[in-house]
Amino acid sequence: MSSGARTAREPKRAKEAPAFDALRVRADFPILATKVRGRPLVYLDNAATSQKPRQVIDATTRYYAEQNSNIHRGVYWLSEQASAAYEGVRAKAATFLGAADPGEIVFTRGTTESINLVASSWGRANLRAGDEVLVTAMEHHSNIVPWQLICEEKGARLVVIPMNRQGELLLDEAKKLIGARTKIVALAHVSNSLGTINPVREIVELAGLHGIPVLVDGAQAAPHLEVDVQDLGCSFYAISGHKMFGPTGIGVLYGKAALLDAMPPYQGGGDMIRSVTFAKTTYAPIPAKFEAGTPNVAGTIGLGAAIDYMGALPMEEVAAHEHDLLNYAVEQLCDVPGLTLIGTAQHKASVVSFTMDGVHPHDVGTIVDQEGVAVRTGHHCTQPVMDFLGIPATTRASFAFYNTRADVDALARAVRKVRKVFPA
Ligand SMILES: Cc1ncc(COP(=O)(O)O)c(C=O)c1O
Repeated sequence: MSSGARTAREPKRAKEAPAFDALRVRADFPILATKVRGRPLVYLDNAATSQKPRQVIDATTRYYAEQNSNIHRGVYWLSEQASAAYEGVRAKAATFLGAADPGEIVFTRGTTESINLVASSWGRANLRAGDEVLVTAMEHHSNIVPWQLICEEKGARLVVIPMNRQGELLLDEAKKLIGARTKIVALAHVSNSLGTINPVREIVELAGLHGIPVLVDGAQAAPHLEVDVQDLGCSFYAISGHKMFGPTGIGVLYGKAALLDAMPPYQGGGDMIRSVTFAKTTYAPIPAKFEAGTPNVAGTIGLGAAIDYMGALPMEEVAAHEHDLLNYAVEQLCDVPGLTLIGTAQHKASVVSFTMDGVHPHDVGTIVDQEGVAVRTGHHCTQPVMDFLGIPATTRASFAFYNTRADVDALARAVRKVRKVFPA
């Protein structure tokens, strides 16, 4: 993927809905037929977790009904089936992310565990007192706290690339901050609270000038953008299955083979060893070295179904549809009295955060819920973003391809109702 070109979202008045048939795909998602207090559910919390198509639900159920057995250790037919299915998803995930080899795909619990794995394992081996870890001002807590933990242990320091009030990184500042002390850069591909699509390629190029690895938190990018880790040139890329229409409790860490090879294990246990004696243990090659214990086999198989599902979608049409939803939502919300949009970067994914004068976001969320509209309110695990903007929280609507303009209309109606309850 180019880190922005296809998905550049110039604000413009959306006149017509594009060709993507969201109503047809909605039929794949049983939960979208739910009624909330007699009204249709309008699910706009996709950045927190996405809904699951029947294909994912069925694949997971089928695994338990027809293939359930522990993997890698069985010589019997059922275990061979399950092992092949599990390893098949590794190959699918490698293709999905554009990795050079399935061995560069480590299954984890999700983005949080993927980042903790790198911070802990790579950090333990590579960080020294006085070193610096460079993150950005818009990181999710899961791309801040793991680095703080290892920095504290090693006497290293967290350094922050600042952003402007629109939620765009200040690249000139990044250039000044990357230096001899910088040992790794860790940044979000797409911000969960602002929607900003960050210029990952440019940051990777910058880091490359200093020979520094870059970890990309792709939790919010994988559901919306075509990701190609080789094109981006990053060293690590972390994603969560549940945000990309797959099950909870499964995610992926992509890592360049040379880096993963050189890193010590993250956790010890079964399956990650070559041989164990009380005197000494030697470790399995990657990726097994990082997958201690019985993995989430059912979740992995569900993730494989989610990757297949996404692979069958016309991604250009999906991108245009989500772009349309974003523009349409901005258009519908921007003249609500006292409503301020938060996160107005030029390159944005389909996330609309806002505040309303005189109303706490939790009240906004509660009132719109009465209308069946599910949005997220709070700091979205980005407290430093809220501090920077001087606000306690926002209301966030985040769209997926199965959302429609009718969903946006329902949101706008509900928000206007909030304004009636709390006049500006
Ligand atoms: C940008 C970003 N990074 C990381 C995470 C953490 O993902 P998970 O909770 O699936 O590990 C999230 C979750 O909201 C996120 O939005």
